[in-house]
Amino acid sequence: MIEIRGAKLEDRRKAYDWLYFSDFSPSIYKLEGYTKETIPSFEEFKADYEDYYFDGSRPEKGRCFVIFLREEGREEDIGIIFYSSSHLLGKIIEFDIWLKELSYAGHGYGTQAIIKLVSMVKDLGYEKVIIRPSKYNRRAIKSYKKAGFVEEELNPTEYCQEKYIEECVEGDYGPGEDVFMVLVLK
Ligand SMILES: CC(C)(COP(=O)(O)OP(=O)(O)OC[C@H]1O[C@@H](n2cnc3c(N)ncnc32)[C@H](O)[C@@H]1OP(=O)(O)O)[C@@H](O)C(=O)NCCC(=O)NCCS
Repeated sequence: MIEIRGAKLEDRRKAYDWLYFSDFSPSIYKLEGYTKETIPSFEEFKADYEDYYFDGSRPEKGRCFVIFLREEGREEDIGIIFYSSSHLLGKIIEFDIWLKELSYAGHGYGTQAIIKLVSMVKDLGYEKVIIRPSKYNRRAIKSYKKAGFVEEELNPTEYCQEKYIEECVEGDYGPGEDVFMVLVLK
């Protein structure tokens, strides 16, 4: 059974290691334009994933959660999921997620974690969730579709605050390299 809990500052190193040093990491960071030699340092990661993601001090801006598996009386941390909203308009929020290694993928864990976070942000009053996997990440796209997301053409002015429009168009992988997916919360 999959659960999520608010991450703590001491979880940040784990989040970094699972993102950049897992067995799936090269396939993701190559798409982001990094090589093994140029991946962000932990200090750079900390500058992007600021304290508030891990100490819960600015929930209106973003929050990181640890995904854990509860099974036969034992618990294991297996991934990271987070939301951010400070670059977006109104009641719109963005998700990102990664599991700790490939052996945990393909069991429905990621999709279940997304569904849990969706329910949480709905209760916080958000109306739309976006998520932007690389167009080459078929597993992620499939998972997000199972969670109810649908593909849409990105119209930046409909989603992004004016000062972030350029960044929004660029995305994590360069213009046109991601699949823009939306879940409307009713
Ligand atoms: C993306 C991720 C969170 C999805 O979580 P997950 O637990 O693997 O997702 P699920 O198991 O619920 O669903 C994955 C689906 O993709 C399918 N799949 C696996 N590999 C695939 C591939 N190469 N092409 C198409 N579909 C694929 C699986 O069969 C499954 O579908 P099914 O349930 O119909 O069998 C997880 O795989 C992960 O952390 N991947 C590495 C990091 C990453 O890519 N993060 C996303 C960045 S946007």
